[in-house]
Amino acid sequence: MVEAIGHNEKSDRITAPCIMVIFGATGDLTKRKLFPALYNLAKSQHLTRDFAIVCVSRSEISNEAFREQISGDIKSFATTSVEEGIWNWFLERIYYISGDVKLPETYQKLKTLLTELDQKHATLGNYFFYLSTSPDYFGEIVKQLGSAGLMHEEGGAFRRVIIEKPFGHDLESARKLNTDISRVLDEKQIYRIDHYLGKETVQNILVFRFGNAIFEPIWNRRYIDHIQITAAETVGVEKRGGYYDTSGALRDMVPNHLLQLLSLTAMEPPISFEANAVRGEQAKVLQAISPIPHWVNDEVLAAYRTEPQVVPDSTTETFVALKLMIDNWRWAGVPFYIRTGKRMPKRVTEISIQFKQAPLLLFRNTPVERLRTNRLVIHIQPDEGISLRFGAKIPGPVMKVGAVEMDFNYSDYFGSTPSTGYERLLYDCMIGDATLFQRADMVEAGWQVIEPVLDVWKALPPRKFPNYPAGTWGPPEADELLKTDGHEWWKIEE
Ligand code: BG6
Repeated sequence: MVEAIGHNEKSDRITAPCIMVIFGATGDLTKRKLFPALYNLAKSQHLTRDFAIVCVSRSEISNEAFREQISGDIKSFATTSVEEGIWNWFLERIYYISGDVKLPETYQKLKTLLTELDQKHATLGNYFFYLSTSPDYFGEIVKQLGSAGLMHEEGGAFRRVIIEKPFGHDLESARKLNTDISRVLDEKQIYRIDHYLGKETVQNILVFRFGNAIFEPIWNRRYIDHIQITAAETVGVEKRGGYYDTSGALRDMVPNHLLQLLSLTAMEPPISFEANAVRGEQAKVLQAISPIPHWVNDEVLAAYRTEPQVVPDSTTETFVALKLMIDNWRWAGVPFYIRTGKRMPKRVTEISIQFKQAPLLLFRNTPVERLRTNRLVIHIQPDEGISLRFGAKIPGPVMKVGAVEMDFNYSDYFGSTPSTGYERLLYDCMIGDATLFQRADMVEAGWQVIEPVLDVWKALPPRKFPNYPAGTWGPPEADELLKTDGHEWWKIEE
């Protein structure tokens, strides 16, 4: 049984009347995540009844045809049962317009429609724009929205923009994009999304650390030996070879998702849960990461070169293992090892906190080096929970110590709550809470961390690189990285 504490008024609040505009609406994200998430919000009665969605894309299709198409899609992608009444209510609020995002006429057409819908659905001039196009257009769309007068907040109405990843492809381009959009938008209108922050288990890192008094005193270099963060995927690049081959594992996963996990694990307690207080602490951690020396292992999976839209002699990495050090009082000397890869043996994302060894040999039959260290694992996905390993006496006349696990599993306590992971993020944008979105300085600090590696790769011609067969945990060099420090990657059960 779980007793709900801290049940705040926000969780019961209905979003403000508004219109959501999706650019790039015929892409995968809309049908796989956005519509199922909005549907879930409508079903759980968190969504205002004064609501509409305008979908913008290049394809010339009619409103009716679009509605028909998504009514089919929702059947495949909904995470809960689709109730006809709710879906029809939802469908009546969806509008489609075709247009090229580079042309001012598109925004004039959009503006006319928004004014009309504002009357029809009583949305009070509140709009938020979701940019789900190719990242090349992010700056352009914001500029055009500005020129069309659509970003101007007046009479208490809000105008916000959610920007998908990737936010730039290196530090310089991320800075430029920040500068460009800040010509039109105030920082409080910008919601840079990282879908990892929509995951319950990721949000739970904050609750675990700052909602409990027993962990914080040991959450530092005196007690923690090192931390390992793994984000392994069994999938390859699916149909995204075109994007991935210019991105690679490092850009795709590290400055965003993995550094979010790292900063939530390593940040200082914020003075409040107000957006800037939380993000300020996260940014400080990212800024304290010391520059990476040049012993990074970059990998290319042989089979990767046979994927569609990938050049046969591609040198794009599909696996990354990094050691990061945080130069601050809490973490000096504690390595953070992070690894991520495609085509690993198992899909698993977890943060493993390895505590220091017990100092003394007290048990005659168990040498101190055989006493396993305490390890706390935050299981992000697909298992969701927290486990703690500690030593226990093995029953019998002889004093022997064995390692046991104490497990908390989310679904045992809370049941399963199928969601897309986008519900909370969309909801937060509609109520104006940017805590789970990245601020400009965080995005830049993330790129700053991997910039030394990108610089080396740019300067040096492709060399012979370590490789790994599909379905393994990366190349031996990834193990070497830890071995030189006397550590090893925690063996994940397959
Ligand atoms: C995306 C990356 O941001 O995250 C993908 O572009 C990756 O390459 C995905 O597969 C992983 O997300 P999740 O939620 O499945 O862990």
